[in-house]
Amino acid sequence: MKGAKKKFTIVGNWKMNPDAFEDAKKLLGSIERVAQKSSKVSVIVCPPAPFLDGLSRGKEKAVSFGAQDIDHREKGSFTGSISAHQVKSVGAEYVIVGHSERRAAGDTDPIIAEKVRMAISAGLNVILCVGEKERDNHAHYLRTLREQVLSAIALVDKKNLRSLIIAYEPVWAIGKSYDTALSPVDIHEMCIYIKKVIAEWAGKQEGLRTPVLYGGSINFENAQKILEDGEVSGLLIGRQSLESEGFGNIITYAHGI
Ligand code: PGA
Repeated sequence: MKGAKKKFTIVGNWKMNPDAFEDAKKLLGSIERVAQKSSKVSVIVCPPAPFLDGLSRGKEKAVSFGAQDIDHREKGSFTGSISAHQVKSVGAEYVIVGHSERRAAGDTDPIIAEKVRMAISAGLNVILCVGEKERDNHAHYLRTLREQVLSAIALVDKKNLRSLIIAYEPVWAIGKSYDTALSPVDIHEMCIYIKKVIAEWAGKQEGLRTPVLYGGSINFENAQKILEDGEVSGLLIGRQSLESEGFGNIITYAHGI
């Protein structure tokens, strides 16, 4: 995986923004200027699918590109769907799978497992989103998380786990006020837990090696502490990735740690 040797991975998930390709180009331009000076950080931008080709074409790559989703099937009569091979052919090296917004729109664990398999067989790296909807006092959320991770990777050959990044995104912390983000101590705990789940299935080495990102209401203020003390491999950032200054500051800070 490109960037695997870098210290941090910072992913921008633009979701259904911006409206126009011209605006996307401007935003990417400012992210690229920061990324060029931040060689210790792997910067991945996930724009809406229609912008992938135009943004990634002919790039001297300071930034890598990811799709926000793919269909779980390879090809065929599925109007409106986008395949793993298609996004790969227009410059995506990564794809987000299992984002809570896709789960809410109908992605089940078996579909997510198919998407992960499909993405890897097409040569994409997977950013697999997992996260509980709520936290209970009996730690049932840990079981939810374990099931999400294990079911998503169930169809993957263990040797292909190197194409996997996990993004831990507690659903209750996504799209909220910036003080909702989980504390670095809790994030650290969750990273260890996720690595342990993978280690049980695939072996200690794979568990330790799998990068775990945190996502959910990240801005420059909380990003600093989480990068310093959260033991994360990086961040998956929604709203703040549309703000060139805030997003750029996070990249620069990660580079400086
Ligand atoms: P947010 O989104 O940073 O706006 O909370 C994160 C995500 O949905 O990946």
